[in-house]
Amino acid sequence: MSSFLCFISFLLIISCYAGILPTGTQNDHKARVLDLPLSQQEHFTDLNNDKKVEHNTEYDHEAFLGTEEAKNFDKLPVEESKKRLGALFDRIDKDHNGTITKQELKDWIKSVQTRYISDDVQKQWIQMNNDSNNEISWNEYDKTTYYALYDDVPEPKTVTDQYLRLQKKDRRRFTKADEDGNGNLNKREFADFIHPEQSSRMKDLVITETIEDIDRNGDGMISLEEFISDIWDSKQANDTTEPDWVKIERENFRKYRDLDHDGKMNRKEVELWLMPTDYDNIQAETEHLFHEADADQDDQLSKEEILEKHDVFVGSQATDWGAELRIHNDL
Ligand SMILES: *[C@@H]1O[C@H](CO)[C@@H](O)[C@H](O)[C@H]1NC(C)=O
Ligand SMILES: *[C@@H]1O[C@H](CO)[C@@H](O)[C@H](O)[C@H]1NC(C)=O
Ligand SMILES: *[C@@H]1O[C@H](CO)[C@@H](O)[C@H](O)[C@H]1NC(C)=O
Repeated sequence: MSSFLCFISFLLIISCYAGILPTGTQNDHKARVLDLPLSQQEHFTDLNNDKKVEHNTEYDHEAFLGTEEAKNFDKLPVEESKKRLGALFDRIDKDHNGTITKQELKDWIKSVQTRYISDDVQKQWIQMNNDSNNEISWNEYDKTTYYALYDDVPEPKTVTDQYLRLQKKDRRRFTKADEDGNGNLNKREFADFIHPEQSSRMKDLVITETIEDIDRNGDGMISLEEFISDIWDSKQANDTTEPDWVKIERENFRKYRDLDHDGKMNRKEVELWLMPTDYDNIQAETEHLFHEADADQDDQLSKEEILEKHDVFVGSQATDWGAELRIHNDL
């Protein structure tokens, strides 16, 4: 997966970064909505939170720690994981008075989120900015990303066609990101290029790209069937029975996406879908974590409360293998 679409998942922060790939190669069913950028994981299977079908703790871990760090915690024995959570507490408790307020938790989640973006930009910048001159030219990007097109090695035609399509798309995005129009991207422009979902300047293009990806009949809109086949491929699944989550998406499309009920999403409707304006995901996640952990309901989290609910905030090994091993050795 690469920088863009995988990134703007239903819930966004993840490490899609996997070396240098074209910016549009993935087509993950969670990879569209631009808001809720806290995690790659879906928080609830029901998008609109009115049923809260299934709660996903991975979402909370990623929102609270960032994807990479969440993975690290998953490998730790419970005791070590709790110890590190205790140490984190002191960082989140900015005024060091022993309790975490909602504001402090919100600030923390926000910082985790922006850290991911800037880390990712930094990582890709170093990799792309081969000649270290503080600007990336289209040539530089193109040669590094689509090297296969320039190699002598003959590619199968289908691959070449796909590359050419992605290259064209990237070229357009590059031009849009190049705010001062000097033909090169500085670091800030590069950030807009690889994370357009973060930039209001790129909003229109993000909508256009999304429609183009899903719109099969080229009418500039997204029909219900186009929407569904984007997220679920019945042929590939070898099964024409729709799973429940697809049914929910169908329902959601009718109820919440196709607002004028003409059977299709137009640009405006796509915009509202990708960039909902009325939902503050950081606020929502903060409320959720408080709901889980604030045992005495005083609107503050003590270290004890957080450690008590450590599994909500961070993962750990399901089994403490170290302890397990010792027991076996004792036998
Ligand atoms: C810590 O500070 C917050 C305000 O920043 C306050 O609401 C809270 O009561 C304080 N907690 C303690 C234990 O003093
Ligand atoms: C740029 O990248 C190429 C291929 O990875 C490498 O051979 C070359 O040395 C790099 N140039 C600089 C200036 O780092
Ligand atoms: C789907 O079914 C076809 C024919 O029945 C079979 O050849 C193919 O391997 C199946 N694909 C998957 C992903 O199961």
